[in-house]
Amino acid sequence: MSDLYLRLVNTSVGRTAAQSLGLPAPAPLKRLKRADQPFIEGEVLIGAANGGKAIATLGSILGASAATLHHASESNRLADSSKAGNKARPLDLASDINQQFSALVFDATGLKGPADLRALYDFFHPTIKKLGSNARVLVIGQNPASCRKAPQAAAQRALEGFVRSVGKEIGKKGSTANLLWMAPGAEKQLDSSVRFFLSARSAYVSGQVVKVGKGNAAPATNPVAPLTGKVALVTGASRGIGAAISETLARDGATVIGLDIPPAMEELEKVTSAINGKALACDITDDKAPKLIADFIEEHFGGVDLVIHNAGITRDKTLGNMPEHFWDMTIAVNLTAEELIDEELAKRELMKENGRIVCISSISGIAGNFGQTNYSTAKCGVIGYVEAMARQLKNGITINAVAPGFIETRMTAAMPVTIREAGRRMNSLSQGGQPVDVAEAIAWYCSPASNGVNGNVVRVCGQSLIGK
Ligand code: NAI
Repeated sequence: MSDLYLRLVNTSVGRTAAQSLGLPAPAPLKRLKRADQPFIEGEVLIGAANGGKAIATLGSILGASAATLHHASESNRLADSSKAGNKARPLDLASDINQQFSALVFDATGLKGPADLRALYDFFHPTIKKLGSNARVLVIGQNPASCRKAPQAAAQRALEGFVRSVGKEIGKKGSTANLLWMAPGAEKQLDSSVRFFLSARSAYVSGQVVKVGKGNAAPATNPVAPLTGKVALVTGASRGIGAAISETLARDGATVIGLDIPPAMEELEKVTSAINGKALACDITDDKAPKLIADFIEEHFGGVDLVIHNAGITRDKTLGNMPEHFWDMTIAVNLTAEELIDEELAKRELMKENGRIVCISSISGIAGNFGQTNYSTAKCGVIGYVEAMARQLKNGITINAVAPGFIETRMTAAMPVTIREAGRRMNSLSQGGQPVDVAEAIAWYCSPASNGVNGNVVRVCGQSLIGK
């Protein structure tokens, strides 16, 4: 669905009119154009608060990129920035900075207490105005849950407030800010998340905090087609976000089984035949659905690597006016079916080692929404399911969720125009996301290199002003 306002405001007349009327002027987001596109280009500055544990890893990930790398120098509090390695040239932050940066990357894992937070100011104050458009801020901290001392936990938790505020300040230029909370010793697991959050793939993801744990050792993968040899099941694949997920996973090398309800078969087959996938007609709320899905997977592939629970419905009514079948259907499609399908696949040992389960929540599930008690209940239940399963799954299998905000699909096209316009603009990037934005986040979770990414709920919402 097209956003006419976004197009108008990016013409010279539209820009002037928006400025004089004080209206938002969203920047067009740069999304991935080619799968082999470098994850970051341009000038990148990295730095570390003293005692940073991730700086050497960041230096080697970025040192192998297409970017020109600089590290912060001439500041006592940032002395450890030089551990970024010899691919990074020193840049004196007290001098005139002529570069325009495509990314600022900061290792804050060394922060031991509130006084150390000053290192954030030292690094970002002289550089934040030098960020280009569609740029990236990425901070690496230590998961506060793993900090034994309260001052350290306070400083690490403080990063969340910092990053969320930075995201709000830089969003009007189409730029994003995110935080990775690393578990002690999980440096080797940072690679896929650093690449995702610095790349065009995360164009609509801002203000998010991701936990990166130790996980299994990450295998070497083909960076252009990391899902080669993997089999993916995508529910609700005939249109919208599900179609984009199917196309994106296929682009990354996976063989996709697209599933949708029988009336959607014609549309589904168009999607699956374009990506050499298989179409499966199934209503996931049918009692026989888990067995039918498991039988199909067993017969055609012998197992499945990636299970993406995308199918979802809304049946909106205020609670007092809601018929019981609206309640029952919404919970059944959005929540119960996921659990029953996973249970069957696990019972029959069809989920392969290092598999990935991804569920779709919603910002309605986080913030609640008028007229959506049923949907918000189901989508919040999805978060509870993901968090509990993340602690239970074995064999390197991970489970994570995405919580989309306003994504341009038929679901949101059906909204009344005033609610739709408000939904589109009420985020740091002042625009709706595209189905591919959700799909790219799922592809990152699914990467074999994302072994340490487990139990997360990442919002793909342009940093919506609603909710946490
Ligand atoms: P959509 O309505 O365009 O697509 C949903 C798909 O699920 C359809 O193809 C539909 O036939 C299928 N489906 C529904 N019930 C099914 C059942 N019982 N069995 C099998 N398939 C079934 O929706 P959209 O926008 O693509 O949403 C995809 C997911 O993202 C949903 O879970 C939705 O709740 C979630 N979401 C979407 C947002 C948005 O802004 N579009 C925002 C937040 C979450």
